[in-house]
Amino acid sequence: MSQYYPIDGTSSLIYPDISAQNLQPMKPLKLGVMASGNGSNFEVVAQAIQAGKLNAQIQVLIYNNPSAKAAERAKNHGLEAVLLNHRDYKKRENLDRAIVKTFRQYDVDLVIMAGWMRIVTQELIDAFPDRIINIHPSLLPSFKGVRAVEQALEAGVKITGCTVHLLRLEMDSGPILIQAAVPVLPDDTAETLHARIQIQEHRILPLAIASLAAR
Ligand code: GAR
Repeated sequence: MSQYYPIDGTSSLIYPDISAQNLQPMKPLKLGVMASGNGSNFEVVAQAIQAGKLNAQIQVLIYNNPSAKAAERAKNHGLEAVLLNHRDYKKRENLDRAIVKTFRQYDVDLVIMAGWMRIVTQELIDAFPDRIINIHPSLLPSFKGVRAVEQALEAGVKITGCTVHLLRLEMDSGPILIQAAVPVLPDDTAETLHARIQIQEHRILPLAIASLAAR
């Protein structure tokens, strides 16, 4: 049965096909990235910049878990990484104020939530209107929130994917910039399905950043 599916994930559907457009902004975009864990999406953005495929620079990475691998990745690229541990803040607003302050210090003009696993508040959204993007491992508006990949498996959908969207206060909502679809294979586990989705995340996140830069 699986011979009908693009099991390597490389031939999945991405729409809109913004890679066909001229996406290189005149001035390098100054990015602030937020990550909570592994940081593979942070890594592909850093690599796209290094390879000259994205005219941008990462000003700073903010991470909230001391053990986040994303911080190690930043150091390997010689990039600044600032730990803002959510456990040090009594209210979500206080953490978000610290995030805004840090991004201002580093002169950030576009914020990328690349696996940021905290709910954000209006404090952050108002500081960067329409300049914060989020990546989520489902075809929104399906399967918002945590365990999106598990939710898709439990629902029995045959196609799922990932979404990059502009951030709004309601979790995992906001204008959609780009989506990629992948098949759910009969013997998928959350790990195998997430791995297939991540191949696509790594394609659409740099494209979405470039498309915003070109606006
Ligand atoms: C990604 O799959 C991203 O879509 C998801 O976290 C993962 C981070 O991976 N984000 C969310 O679920 C946000 N609601 P990474 O740390 O390897 O980039």
